[in-house]
Amino acid sequence: MTTQDTQPGAQPGTELSTDAPALAFPPGFVWGAATSAYQIEGATDSDGRGRSIWDTFVGEPGRVVNGDHADLAVDHYHRYRDDVALMAELGLTAYRFSVSWPRIMPEGSGRVNQAGLDFYRRLVDELLGRGIEPYLTLYHWDLPQVLEDAGGWPERDTAARFADFTTCVHEALGDRVRHWTTVNEPWCAAFVGYASGEHAPGRREPAAAVRAAHHLNLAHGLATQAIRARDPQARIGGSVNLYAVTPATGAPADLDAARRVDGLQNRFFLDALLKGSYPEDVVADLAGVTGFDFVRDGDMEVVSTPFDMLMVNYYSRYTVSGSAEGSSSASAAPTGAGSPWPGSEHVTFVRSGRPVTSMGWEIDEFGLYEVLQRVALGYPAIPLVVSENGAAFDDVVSGGVVDDRERVAYLYAHLRACHAAIAAGIPLRGYFAWSLMDNFEWAWGYGKRFGLVHVDYDTLRRTPKASARWYSRAIRRGGLRG
Ligand code: NOJ
Repeated sequence: MTTQDTQPGAQPGTELSTDAPALAFPPGFVWGAATSAYQIEGATDSDGRGRSIWDTFVGEPGRVVNGDHADLAVDHYHRYRDDVALMAELGLTAYRFSVSWPRIMPEGSGRVNQAGLDFYRRLVDELLGRGIEPYLTLYHWDLPQVLEDAGGWPERDTAARFADFTTCVHEALGDRVRHWTTVNEPWCAAFVGYASGEHAPGRREPAAAVRAAHHLNLAHGLATQAIRARDPQARIGGSVNLYAVTPATGAPADLDAARRVDGLQNRFFLDALLKGSYPEDVVADLAGVTGFDFVRDGDMEVVSTPFDMLMVNYYSRYTVSGSAEGSSSASAAPTGAGSPWPGSEHVTFVRSGRPVTSMGWEIDEFGLYEVLQRVALGYPAIPLVVSENGAAFDDVVSGGVVDDRERVAYLYAHLRACHAAIAAGIPLRGYFAWSLMDNFEWAWGYGKRFGLVHVDYDTLRRTPKASARWYSRAIRRGGLRG
């Protein structure tokens, strides 16, 4: 312990103070924050952007809390320079964002809207100019409405359209973007969009949702091939949102519930992307919902095309019960009556007594370690990135300051879990906090704040919260104080 502390209130030179982190992360570890296009950009009618399924969805009564929409969102489209400056001030080494498909291809395919591409080119150049590595996500849920009108993700052709879109984006940005993520959280896009209907397009068609899941996986594989063909050096990521899953008790019904939820949430996507197959037990669970005749010869080879990094979004643990006494269904949104668990609608989600965030999601950093370890032990070796992790709390602005200690504690605990994973030999290469700033939290609207940076929705003024400052110090220090 030789150097001085940078924590506020600590006296430089005191014996216990140090800049050297007790829990150091490896050199080159990626310290990032994440957002997505629809949640932050606004400007939904500007510069030739087409409509997405979310533009339609937010206009339907009862879909989003408070009738919130994202026409303005946090106006990142016009404020991106300031936002990038803020990222630089925080010391982020990387920024994960998504491109809006309807901004670039207003009709979903064919005609390219140059103004849309230009926006992302400017954003990327701004990032590179500040030494921040862009991590570009190609699909974060804003499907062009015209493609939904043609059937959406349950239609195979949507995957082919996505491959064309990928090629178009890569043609425009491939010279400056090295890190690509294909489809963000395919579980959500498929089952919350098409089974529970809590997200756009709001359909409650369980069989269609399973088809959508396969076509999202196919889209990932086709996009991977499209990028690889154009640039063998590109770093390509497949994305999954993994949950730790625990049975409520050792009773057979609860064990079966845990197997089912783990199966559809985690293994269905991990097995497809990394092993080239769907788990037999999950296919059996779904037998009453749909057959799998939509999987054509050769599809699973495409789905499992080798890629370079598994992007893991992690928020919470599920404790599940298969008996009728469980308390509630785990809902991604406040509005829906459908279940995002086709074939397993009887499963219930019980509270374990852990503290929760304002989303009601239980806080469990051990679950993060568990999911990372599980991938590392159970699948072919692949570098891992925590591509989203964070928490919504009811932040209070007082005297222009947001002292969000709960979020600091959340980030600290989860980064500790990351450190432990790395120490155990798990190939974890980076961490992206969700989110850089408060934004449109889908069906929950603006009421749930996940940001490191507070956004005043009246003035759109950005104010870094205590968590942003804390994260910034961790980045500059290269780790945690212990
Ligand atoms: C996952 C999604 O990718 C992101 O869009 C969302 O805001 C966060 N989870 C929090 O719910």
